[in-house]
Amino acid sequence: MKNIKAIIFDAYGTLFDVNSAAEKCKNKIGDKWEGFANYWRTTQLEYTWLRSLMDRHKDFWQVTEDSLDKSMKVFDIDPEMKNELLNLYKKLSTFNEVPNVLKDLKNKKFKLSILSNGTPGLLDELVNSNNLDNIFDDIFSIENVGIYKPSSKVYDMPIKKYSFKKKEIAFLSANTWDVSAGGNYGYNSIWVNRNNNVFDNLDYQPNYEIKNLNELLEMLN
Ligand code: LAC
Repeated sequence: MKNIKAIIFDAYGTLFDVNSAAEKCKNKIGDKWEGFANYWRTTQLEYTWLRSLMDRHKDFWQVTEDSLDKSMKVFDIDPEMKNELLNLYKKLSTFNEVPNVLKDLKNKKFKLSILSNGTPGLLDELVNSNNLDNIFDDIFSIENVGIYKPSSKVYDMPIKKYSFKKKEIAFLSANTWDVSAGGNYGYNSIWVNRNNNVFDNLDYQPNYEIKNLNELLEMLN
């Protein structure tokens, strides 16, 4: 991949492990922790899409709490765990290789940014709690456009701010539909496929597919 000036990362699921909140409670939740975590994530995303289509925006923190309430009922989880899970969600862990790769990319002088559904406050807290402050040039939150991914208004934000062409930007996400949306918008799309998943049938194939961010370093050399 040549002539890349900026690298834009999705946050939830790509840099930060959305399952890590429930995983940290697996002793209390039991074997169903992973099914519960996946259901919570899917419901959270569905609520973002539905709210955007209905023109009924609520911020990502409220959507995260609403989807958690439903998921806890479906999986019969002790309601007393709600605050613990929400607090853990504010400080999700990164995937293992993420901090070192970001530091290497920063040293190579790429412009680095986040483009996410999260609120500015949530994204700042995630970055700070993982000691990633000073890494990102920009943190773009959909709250600035009031509609969730995959609206093209979201992918437009970095282009409005930077003077780069779309093809000078690499956009990475682990979320297949986010890869399709960013790629359709015109970015070089990179699917971070950590779990050997199958890509979507949305008339779009990613430009690149990697298993984790270490492979990104090799691609940019
Ligand atoms: C985000 C979701 C899509 O961070 O993971 O925007």
